[in-house]
Amino acid sequence: MGLHRLDGNWLADDDGISPIAVAAQPSERPAFIPYTNRPIKWHTDGYYHPQTRQILAMVLHCVRRAQTGGESAVMDHEMAYIALREANPDWVRALMQPDAMTIPERTDEDGVARAEQTGPVFSVDAASGALHMRYTARTRSIVWKDDAPTRAAVAFLEQMLASDDSPVFRLTLQPGMGLVCNNVLHDRAGFVDDPLQPRLLYRARYLDRIAGNSYKELASSPREICVEAIKTIAIAL
Ligand SMILES: [Fe+2]
Repeated sequence: MGLHRLDGNWLADDDGISPIAVAAQPSERPAFIPYTNRPIKWHTDGYYHPQTRQILAMVLHCVRRAQTGGESAVMDHEMAYIALREANPDWVRALMQPDAMTIPERTDEDGVARAEQTGPVFSVDAASGALHMRYTARTRSIVWKDDAPTRAAVAFLEQMLASDDSPVFRLTLQPGMGLVCNNVLHDRAGFVDDPLQPRLLYRARYLDRIAGNSYKELASSPREICVEAIKTIAIAL
């Protein structure tokens, strides 16, 4: 699928793949919601990364599901972009500002563990023409640009993601199932584990997009390749 450059998360194992499960010890991976059974709000992965290390694709693989809950919701970020642009083009411009969104630095006992990161919500990759989105619905540890269009755009996105009318796919991954996507918007519901068989997902993040479905590739491809690429997009969504 063209995914070659794995991004090693600092909590990932040595192979760069992150096992996502409730941390066994309170001291292990303590403060991070992915390693609890709590819900995770809408976001794209790596929204706190610099422009030079954008997460363009993501794979989730389910080994064991939770006893109850743990549903994922996904929405293509291009749909969010289109809805925002149709509602008000100024809102899209606001979220493409290079200082639209700032994630404050993260500190630990050794000092600054991750530097402050400022960047746009929406950006376009010059090489592929693909749209990238950095987003988190969290309200703490995030600073939005303090101007009226940015505030309105963020409110619109929040409302859209909460609406029952939005193009959201919901699924609960079953053992053996996976999700491959171009780092679309996603969230996770809270869950309850069976203590003997706790939920376990593997996550891999890539600095590559899934091959064959950028606009430029589609535009220059013969029909058969386009059909394949459309199938890939369907899988990706
Ligand atoms: Fe995520």
